[in-house]
Amino acid sequence: MGATFRSLFGVEPVAQVFAPGRVNLIGEYTDLIGGSVLPMPLAKGVRVEVAPSDAQGNVYSSQQGEMQALSLAPTATGGWVDYIVGPLLMMKQAGFTVPDLNFQIAADLPAGAGVSSSAALEVAIMRAVLAVTGESLSPVKMAQLARQAENLYCGVQCGIMDQMAVAVGEAGCALALDCETLTYRHLPLPAGWCIAVVHCGQARQLVDGAYNDRQNAILTAETALKTPLKNASLSALQQLSEPLVFKRAHHVVTEQARVALAVEAMQAQDHQAFGELMNESHRSLQLDFEVSTPGLDALVASAREAGAVGARLTGAGFGGCIVALIDETEKQAWWQAVSHTCPEAWIVAL
Ligand code: GLA
Repeated sequence: MGATFRSLFGVEPVAQVFAPGRVNLIGEYTDLIGGSVLPMPLAKGVRVEVAPSDAQGNVYSSQQGEMQALSLAPTATGGWVDYIVGPLLMMKQAGFTVPDLNFQIAADLPAGAGVSSSAALEVAIMRAVLAVTGESLSPVKMAQLARQAENLYCGVQCGIMDQMAVAVGEAGCALALDCETLTYRHLPLPAGWCIAVVHCGQARQLVDGAYNDRQNAILTAETALKTPLKNASLSALQQLSEPLVFKRAHHVVTEQARVALAVEAMQAQDHQAFGELMNESHRSLQLDFEVSTPGLDALVASAREAGAVGARLTGAGFGGCIVALIDETEKQAWWQAVSHTCPEAWIVAL
């Protein structure tokens, strides 16, 4: 962690907790319609050390290289500390004990890359508080509070996929999650399947406004159809007269169908079928939902040319990472070929 907790706060931490990042295998933006998603936790994530403080607490971020005071002000500052204050406030409002604490945060997860660094931070902070107070909070409730922190405090109108994947996900398993009922199953990754997560070299940009636009288009479609898109048939979408609204709705409705097929393909250990669904998902995100970038498209193309069974952008898009399914035995040769054609790309997980 670079600077030690003792050198920052004069005492040893009383607990150290971890929350992973996640990669979404398929099911992009379907959480906005309460649909199905299939994310998987990563080995990389956010580590938090914590100890009680005699006065108002502070937080040191090793990534940012700076210390911030933790005032539980009801208004967000727009800075990284919001992702700590938000969860603390939500816990307090939900009736949990939130004493004055000092935190040190370290992450080996890139921020703004589509691998849920903010959800990991929110969940890690909550786990750190509970480690001190001894109170308990179910993982699902924790995910709900973390999402509230993003929606109500940080002002990011995200769905619940990331917080659920981080809070309830199991290493080595994909999480087949229904974002409306919050029921889920852990699906072990079949032997021989390698999930590669590769950053395209360009950080995510201008995502908040674009994200909200997509969400508004979904609401417009639901109002026009007088039915939740989760239950809408493809043929019903023909009633949508506005071309852009049609395209956005077409993506989430077809993507939800792809998630159901992908779950079946994973259970049948059919990597070809799973890979083809990933490829279709990328096409839909590129052409219908329009959240891809030339950098992501080039990396997806290179990943496939180098032998990936399937590849697609992962997370919100607009930069950041792709996910590819490759054969475990081919991963070194695969990466050699990809890094040759896309020299700016780098591995987050392989
Ligand atoms: C971000 C949001 C999620 C989800 C994805 C797109 O990661 O936080 O809720 O909508 O984008 O699938």
